[in-house]
Amino acid sequence: MSLEINNLFSVKDKVAVVTGGSRGIGEMLSSGFLANGAKVYITARKEEALVAKAAELSDKFGVDCIPFAVDLSNLDGVMKLVDYLTEHEPNGIDFLINNAGAAWGAPYDQFPESGWDKVVDLNLKSPFFLTQQLTPLLETKGTSDNPSRVVNIASIDGLHVPFMETYSYTASKSGIIHLTRHLAKTLVSKNIIVNAIAPGPFDSHMLGKAVNFDYSLIADSVPRKRIGTPEDIAGLCIYLCSRAGAYTVGETITCDGGSIKTL
Ligand SMILES: NC(=O)c1ccc[n+]([C@@H]2O[C@H](COP(=O)([O-])OP(=O)(O)OC[C@H]3O[C@@H](n4cnc5c(N)ncnc54)[C@H](OP(=O)(O)O)[C@@H]3O)[C@@H](O)[C@H]2O)c1
Repeated sequence: MSLEINNLFSVKDKVAVVTGGSRGIGEMLSSGFLANGAKVYITARKEEALVAKAAELSDKFGVDCIPFAVDLSNLDGVMKLVDYLTEHEPNGIDFLINNAGAAWGAPYDQFPESGWDKVVDLNLKSPFFLTQQLTPLLETKGTSDNPSRVVNIASIDGLHVPFMETYSYTASKSGIIHLTRHLAKTLVSKNIIVNAIAPGPFDSHMLGKAVNFDYSLIADSVPRKRIGTPEDIAGLCIYLCSRAGAYTVGETITCDGGSIKTL
């Protein structure tokens, strides 16, 4: 038994896969792993930006950050990533972070079918199939003492009704929260632990676009009076992936400055 921080929270020499790692919350999570000695595979569709981000992060942290460009909203894309990882990490992977996501806002009476398909395919269907298809690689690494981890990035919008008219987004995020529990039940006996994080507002393309990158009003509405930082979200994810989080199963933990629990 060792209760020292270096043992409790270490992710050194682990292999992590972060979908949507080219920017926003995915970049924050990837940076947290890299800063602490884990090798990280990042994915996104836009290859040029992804490759540039991987080079920037590898350089900054002195650890391998490896890009793989793919559209994960369909099974074909999921299998491309699975084949690539199977070839490059035959000894398995330690952490899968299902982070890539999309949102769609439209008035209730005009909400289009395309706004359901795009959002639900990426936010809900894709994490299921990616987890399903990466289970053998996660199982290869996981042991009872040191289980592999899956962390689904949900949203507080899956726990409350938001101000914006994002019907498919809220439904997809509620769905991933319940799917987290169901997958946790299935995978815990394979030494794979599944949890979720429900972020509040963080600086990103997704949220920034909706508020013209002026976060002041949103920050004011949060009990902590600010939006989230890389330390907030990476710290929680590292907890869930490290020895410290090895007895936390099927949870969705908010990271929202107190919005859900106090407002
Ligand atoms: N930012 C927030 O305040 C906030 C709050 C709550 C929850 N979240 C959740 O956090 C996660 C990350 O969001 P973010 O705010 O960081 O968004 P973001 O800045 O828009 O980043 C999304 C990432 O996903 C990738 N992506 C988008 N569509 C994809 C597809 N079809 N296939 C593969 N990759 C795809 C993007 O790269 P490409 O465009 O190149 O594919 C990018 O790397 C999402 O699940 C989101 O719902 C965010």
